[in-house]
Amino acid sequence: MKLLVKGKIYTNKGLLDGSILVQDGRIIRVAKNIREPVDKLLDYSGGRRIVLPGLIDLHVHMRDFELSYKEDFFTGTGAAAMGGFTVVADMPNTRPRVNRPDVLKKREKVAKEKALVDYAFYYGVPDREADLVGGIEDLAMGFKIFMQHEFYTDKRRLTEKVLEFASKREMLVVVHAENPKFFVETEMGLSGLPQAEASAIKDIAKLALSYGFPLHVTHISSAAGMRELLRWRGRVGITVDTCPYYLLLNAKEALTKGAVAKVYPSIKSSKDAEILLRRLKEGKIDAIVSDHAPHPPEEKSDPRSASAGFPGLETTLTLLLTLVNNGVLELRDVVRICATNPAKILKLNEIGSIDKGKIGNFTVVDLHRRATINPKAFVSRGKCSPFEGKKVEGMPVATIVRGEPVMLDGELVATAGWGKNVKTYR
Ligand code: NCD
Ligand code: ZN
Ligand code: ZN
Repeated sequence: MKLLVKGKIYTNKGLLDGSILVQDGRIIRVAKNIREPVDKLLDYSGGRRIVLPGLIDLHVHMRDFELSYKEDFFTGTGAAAMGGFTVVADMPNTRPRVNRPDVLKKREKVAKEKALVDYAFYYGVPDREADLVGGIEDLAMGFKIFMQHEFYTDKRRLTEKVLEFASKREMLVVVHAENPKFFVETEMGLSGLPQAEASAIKDIAKLALSYGFPLHVTHISSAAGMRELLRWRGRVGITVDTCPYYLLLNAKEALTKGAVAKVYPSIKSSKDAEILLRRLKEGKIDAIVSDHAPHPPEEKSDPRSASAGFPGLETTLTLLLTLVNNGVLELRDVVRICATNPAKILKLNEIGSIDKGKIGNFTVVDLHRRATINPKAFVSRGKCSPFEGKKVEGMPVATIVRGEPVMLDGELVATAGWGKNVKTYR
């Protein structure tokens, strides 16, 4: 199977007016002119479309298993393809949880049958030490630790076992860093103060220093948390991501939007948003994730009791491209935070850039296509967003995974089961 993609190509040396030849899922040539018979041609030359390296989302909840009424691998990876993401990394807070070898295997089976784009797994803190066994690394990229439930509780001992296990194998440890000591009751239910984040980051960074595991702090939401993280960086390797809403919304706006904008960690002040955006531009925040966390409408009505989180796969890239059009970010920032750095964090050398020998994952964007965010039209089962009604400029127009178009012009064109575990890249 040979695919030729023509157009403005985002390479490490800048934009190239040329072509990419993909054979059996791998890039075999990137050049100005490629004349060769192929099975499929995607021609994006002329106009304002740009072929980017396939985007990677390090933090999504595909739900499935017993929570498939919220989302499953088909709708979740469909949402990913619609939003321009070629790889998604799935969190283990499912029902049952992905914290036993047999459940991890079952997860692989379900994903393999339904996924449209490629996927990675994180393993959760197990309930028994016996579930921390060799073989986890054959399917999972790392571990996820939800500190308020698994570190500041009686699960701490098992969590430390995970840290030890991850250190030996140099497996990534992703943390939701909030210390419940700094939780307060609000109109949106229990919510962490900025100190909750700073305190948890300090506690986990100390352990990263003594154990040696690669630490990644996900969805940072506060300037205080970021300050603490930067204090540790240098002494210990830490990477960090945030989500678009921590940059674009503030607590006051979230409160007026109500349950739809309820998310953990909570959305902080406009000052926090401003500082996080500055750190992102400075390159101190490594990645942007969607934290795609769909829930049905009945769980998103009363702010106090609502489930936290909302879908993000179909809004993240378009929001970032809008920031590019507003002069806040540059296109190269978007590639760095959504492709290059996420690939590095996952230690996946096969993706993250358009080069000979890499996997043929691409996200084609139309930098100036305009739209209004409309959650009713999401492919995701979670049909809500705090960005509903927002005018955006810049949209994904094609998502290509291992040389196969998965989304073309807003239509899903691949069949369920095309997606593969990124572990198969090797
Ligand atoms: C996530 C979920 O719904 O699974 N919710 C959220 O508010 N972000 C859990 C999480 O990522 O903390
Ligand atoms: Zn979280
Ligand atoms: Zn999450």
